[in-house]
Amino acid sequence: MAFGVYVHIPYCIQRCTYCDFATYEQSKILPPDQYVQLLFEEIRQKHRYYQPQKLDTLYFGGGTPSLIPAHLIVAVIKELGRYGYTTGPDTEITIEINPATVDKDKLKMYIDHGVNRFSVGAQTFDDRLLKMVHREHSAKQTLETLDLLRAHNLNFSFDILFALPSQTLDGLKNDVRIAVEQGAKHISPYCLTVPEGHPLSKGRALEEEQVDMFDFIADELTGRGFQQYEISNFSLPGYESRHNMLYWVDQPYWSLGLSSHSYSKESQWGTRYWNLNSIGEYKKQILDFQGQEFTSPAAHLPGAQVEQLEMHQALTDFCHTSMRLMRGLNERELQEKFPVAVYHQISSIMNKLIGNGWVQSQNNHWSLTRDGLVISNKVFQELTFLKEDV
Ligand SMILES: C[S@@+](CC[C@H](N)C(=O)[O-])C[C@H]1O[C@@H](n2cnc3c(N)ncnc32)[C@H](O)[C@@H]1O
Ligand code: SF4
Repeated sequence: MAFGVYVHIPYCIQRCTYCDFATYEQSKILPPDQYVQLLFEEIRQKHRYYQPQKLDTLYFGGGTPSLIPAHLIVAVIKELGRYGYTTGPDTEITIEINPATVDKDKLKMYIDHGVNRFSVGAQTFDDRLLKMVHREHSAKQTLETLDLLRAHNLNFSFDILFALPSQTLDGLKNDVRIAVEQGAKHISPYCLTVPEGHPLSKGRALEEEQVDMFDFIADELTGRGFQQYEISNFSLPGYESRHNMLYWVDQPYWSLGLSSHSYSKESQWGTRYWNLNSIGEYKKQILDFQGQEFTSPAAHLPGAQVEQLEMHQALTDFCHTSMRLMRGLNERELQEKFPVAVYHQISSIMNKLIGNGWVQSQNNHWSLTRDGLVISNKVFQELTFLKEDV
């Protein structure tokens, strides 16, 4: 079994117009050293939930983890190590960095402490669009940050945002070309998602055009040696995100910090638990249990923050996460985890979806076809189960 830790760092220079993540403008939240003290306290309270072990992956996400002093990131790595959650050269340690928030010294400190993967929030190389969505950096600053990463021969990944208002296919082509030329080993294209009525919901490519945009990205990247290994993730061979794979292949992960979500296998069908979304509530909860240690989320957290899954929920999660991967759902793993009757039930649903042309069966895996990818929501709907369904 693989195991990883996620650490949420909820600091940003400014809030991007489209962003719905739990993060604050840095002046509107407690200072980062105090937040990191809360993380330490959370580690103390929860470290017995899991067995101490060498981490396969450690991921600092945000927010903008690269905004806070690098020694605080290092302090978290060390604190986890003190409790036996150690890292080594084979641990994938990722940090999300925003352009213009790292310099040589920060980078050196990350590298000296094992950080070996950098996820760069490039989004687009079009300054007009960056400004429009209230990003704090310019394309030139992104390129300067990339120069710095390349000078140290580092492994970096890009997030690309597409279907922004007034963005054209030609504009997107330019973004993808630059991303590849800059040497990213991994690219995550995200179609902008905003609720109806949001200021950024107007003037966008229509739904079919968004599909064309994604198809363009997929064709372009696969033509340049990338593999689409997950619905919205592409990598050169061997550069898949090992941390994100934990989420998709039913492995446990421990997440720390504001609003983070975790998964453990302590109960029969797995347990999900999560932290609150507002910094005030998060802080209160951590301080309420100060100095205490617990052996399971059920013994520690209020009922509204922990869920011991039932079989139908575990099955839904298993189907959804594995069908996000291009390699698809492994029939053997399904049979190992669930009763044989469930296997037959899924088999018959998959046969129907194969008939629709949305799913294919290869090497004992069921996976989405290209048509299935476009309407993946419908496929997931078919693979969503209520208690009475199984
Ligand atoms: C939580 S952000 C953290 C990364 C970093 N702070 C940044 O903005 O570059 C992770 C990624 O989610 C994507 N994202 C955030 N809000 C989104 C939205 N409304 N629709 C689609 N993608 C979104 C962005 O591409 C972003 O890079
Ligand atoms: S920098 Fe990233 S996390 Fe922060 S507001 Fe913008 S999109 Fe959200």
